[in-house]
Amino acid sequence: MRILGIETSCDETAAAVVDDGRFVVSSVVSSQVDLHARFGGVVPEIASRAHVELVGPVVADALGEAGVDLSGVDAVAACHGPGLAGALLVGVSAAKALALVADVPYVGVNHLEAHLYAAWLEEPELLPPLAVLIASGGHTLVVIVEDHGRYRVVGQTLDDAAGEAFDKVARFLGLGYPGGPAIDRLAREGSPDAIAFPRSMAGEPDFSFSGLKTAVVGHVRKHPESTTADVAASFQAAVVDQLVAKLVSAADAADAPALVLGGGVAANSALRARVEEVAAATGRRAFVPPAALCTDNAAMIAATAWWRLGSDGPTPLDSGVDPGLALPSTA
Ligand code: KG4
Ligand code: ZN
Repeated sequence: MRILGIETSCDETAAAVVDDGRFVVSSVVSSQVDLHARFGGVVPEIASRAHVELVGPVVADALGEAGVDLSGVDAVAACHGPGLAGALLVGVSAAKALALVADVPYVGVNHLEAHLYAAWLEEPELLPPLAVLIASGGHTLVVIVEDHGRYRVVGQTLDDAAGEAFDKVARFLGLGYPGGPAIDRLAREGSPDAIAFPRSMAGEPDFSFSGLKTAVVGHVRKHPESTTADVAASFQAAVVDQLVAKLVSAADAADAPALVLGGGVAANSALRARVEEVAAATGRRAFVPPAALCTDNAAMIAATAWWRLGSDGPTPLDSGVDPGLALPSTA
């Protein structure tokens, strides 16, 4: 079964063609980063307008790269939440229109569930139970995947998402937007041990990053002599330590033999390396999808749609978008 997926929940307009939920035939991502950079973050109204302009050409590119036209597609899926309301509406409306034209089912996909499914695109044989960390610009959660469609959310952030902390600290350090990749790059020139920033374990199993952000601001004001590279590397190390410690605790408690990463922050080189290290040291397997599947993309939407179409059937065409959609605990 060949599914066309569309993703427009934030500032990436993406479309992909995926076969049987596992084989990526084409995947096109058009980033709006340049449009939002001068505002220091995503401007929702600009994002919606850009999605309207880009969604048609991006879908055409994805179909073209796959060498199919709409008549070769068996279902059309779009992310219907969580995300920015206006941005989500563009992808969902486009998907419904295409599904109507092609006379195939429409499938609305949960963005967080899609970040989980990115791992299966790389490793089709991945066997649950899995301990998964999803860390993005809007969310940070640890999920035990008991089986396809059966999740237990064991920890979430109490304040900022991990990606939001990267973006805010990068802005404070004058590194621009998006902050995660900028800190990741600069951190390679600094020492992760230069400054002992706090690792909040207080809310275990939940996450907290606001104290760390305040500590970075306080340190820089008090020690202007610290290099920005050392601050970036030490901040990044503190985030990675907290993320990995709570992922491993959850895996221990659930007796999960595999650690999995998803979401934009999973593109972080230090986090990827630490998860591989910790998995090896604790006799587990690590599944770290390529960075392009960690950040927002439509291949993960099409893959998830295949599984959900099989379990739940098509989504009604009169269903809407849900900007606050959560990942339900279903296990
Ligand atoms: O999953 P994603 O592409 O979009 C959302 O669903 O939010 O995640 C975007 C977030 C941003 O906060 C960005 O700064 C962060 O992921 N990010 C990174 C890296 N690449 C993207 N954070 C740390 N290191 C990176 N290399
Ligand atoms: Zn995302």
